[in-house]
Amino acid sequence: MTLGTALRQGQQLLAQGGVAEPRLTAEVLLCHALRREKIYLYSHPEHELSTIEWLHYGRYLHERLKGKPTQHITRRQEFFGREFAVSAEVLIPRPETEHVVERAARVAPDAARILDIGTGSGALAVTLALEHVRELAVATDISAGALRVARENARRHGAAVAFVHTDLAAGLCGPFDLIVSNPPYIPEAEIPHLQHEVRDWEPRVALAGGADGAEPYRRIAPEAERLLRPGGWLVFEIGFQIEAAVRAVFGPCWRDVETGYDLAGLPRVMSARYEPGQRGTKCES
Ligand SMILES: C[S@@+](CC[C@H](N)C(=O)[O-])C[C@H]1O[C@@H](n2cnc3c(N)ncnc32)[C@H](O)[C@@H]1O
Repeated sequence: MTLGTALRQGQQLLAQGGVAEPRLTAEVLLCHALRREKIYLYSHPEHELSTIEWLHYGRYLHERLKGKPTQHITRRQEFFGREFAVSAEVLIPRPETEHVVERAARVAPDAARILDIGTGSGALAVTLALEHVRELAVATDISAGALRVARENARRHGAAVAFVHTDLAAGLCGPFDLIVSNPPYIPEAEIPHLQHEVRDWEPRVALAGGADGAEPYRRIAPEAERLLRPGGWLVFEIGFQIEAAVRAVFGPCWRDVETGYDLAGLPRVMSARYEPGQRGTKCES
């Protein structure tokens, strides 16, 4: 069977199975089976699949039709122009999370000491560590499995990030100039109604944000007050339905609380500057 035929048949199967973007998915899976880049599919349409390539492709199509996310089959996902390894132990980095990188670069372009809370695959920490010169980059996660993946991604990209296995930022000392976090933010009651690719394949610890989705933010804000230098920035990714609840976590020590919107016009990031005032005095509201 030639690549052209394999692609057409794969696309057809995926479309019949209700998989979104069947053509693109077939291309990605076929490339993975061949261990080739996409350009090869179109520059060598006459390539005859070997038995082993055909077996791999068939297995990947079958797995995708069963609901396994494409990124869990290929074990990689691009984020901010770099390829990240992913596994069932990490959230697949989403394009929306690139807004956190952009917002951080805008509000704190010179941040020398940075912290990523709940790093998952390490996408944010590694990207931020590589996009600017840093004195220190630290990333935490409560999942040891996620930290293994994040360490591998940092090694692969040559990023100097110190990974810490802890609950949020427990045990860390500041000061940091910038803290970023994309914590779990799905309200508990919504978890059963998520797309099954997400609900059944992504780690629950990366999704569930307590009763209203904002519990991790309520816990992170006081940690950020403990760890940020005066004038330092906190940048959150937020779920679109919890903007008001996240805004409410910023008490009187915070200034310039600002929401950013994604390409669909939905609230996606929130940034704020920590201004505690003089030592021993209360922050003025
Ligand atoms: C939504 S995922 C984000 C992953 C990654 N930062 C990204 O943007 O792709 C949230 C991450 O927070 C971690 N996490 C959840 N609760 C945590 C806690 N209490 N302390 C540290 N990390 C936690 C999860 O293991 C998961 O890796």
